[in-house]
Amino acid sequence: MITGAGGGIGRALALSAVQHGMRVAISDVAVDRLGQTRAALPADDKDIKEITADLTDKGARQRTIDVIESEWGGLDVLVNAAGAGAFGSFLDLEPDSLRRIMEINFFSVAELCRIALPLLRDGIDPLIVNISSMYGRRGVPQWAGYCASKFALSGFSEALRAELVPYGIGLLLVLPGVTKTDFGSRLIANSTHQNLVLSTGIAPEAVAKSVFEGVIRRKNELIVGTDARRMIWANRFFPRWVDRRKGHQVLLGTRR
Ligand SMILES: NC(=O)c1ccc[n+]([C@@H]2O[C@H](COP(=O)([O-])OP(=O)(O)OC[C@H]3O[C@@H](n4cnc5c(N)ncnc54)[C@H](OP(=O)(O)O)[C@@H]3O)[C@@H](O)[C@H]2O)c1
Repeated sequence: MITGAGGGIGRALALSAVQHGMRVAISDVAVDRLGQTRAALPADDKDIKEITADLTDKGARQRTIDVIESEWGGLDVLVNAAGAGAFGSFLDLEPDSLRRIMEINFFSVAELCRIALPLLRDGIDPLIVNISSMYGRRGVPQWAGYCASKFALSGFSEALRAELVPYGIGLLLVLPGVTKTDFGSRLIANSTHQNLVLSTGIAPEAVAKSVFEGVIRRKNELIVGTDARRMIWANRFFPRWVDRRKGHQVLLGTRR
């Protein structure tokens, strides 16, 4: 099952999964975008299940897992790609938006893992794939709420991975860099009045390819994209340089 499959990385992962011969349940909050993903998948209806769900809703999460259990009888891989961003100064980030971003990027993922685990425990080569971000390893200005939610997801994933070892369930944490998707136009908050265009990023298909290689090699963690690898490396040895550089980019941004 792949959440956030209505576009971007989730859709690319769904296409890769079908090309690898898997049956896939695709889920998203937006029924029209989910339909577009379904139309792009070269697979029979028996091998694809579309589930429209707002995963911040407890009942919707449970219904999602119930549908998979009742109709397919099990679950082998859960990919949590649903997510949202909020861009702008922390002082401009409304308390409700801060909570919402934690709900989408952290609580709904953690709670979906919780209710999926009994099915995964009986799955074949069971695996959870959590799509975090390079901002889940290094905080950057203008993304305070998003960074907090992705750090929470990264920490949760590392802890859960170790807990799942005795059950044979793997957990792959993915930290992508900037990726060319509609993410920037679907933010839940943007106080900068700048359009966030991610056209310099890597293609979502490239992220999906790396994820599948990571799945096959049973990797624990993947940093995807040159920008992500560079930033995480630089932060390990020169964190104050990264602070200055990121702060400088914000000043340039607001002057434009
Ligand atoms: N693009 C990047 O540069 C980048 C970099 C690093 C990590 N990521 C992460 O990669 C993941 C995929 O992002 P993307 O770039 O592919 O963007 P995307 O195309 O916007 O995909 C995210 C999907 O999640 C869905 N979603 C949001 N809230 C949801 C909810 N409450 N319930 C169910 N689905 C919900 C969105 O639906 P709606 O839009 O209809 O609400 C959207 O279809 C996210 O977790 C993101 O944080 C992205």
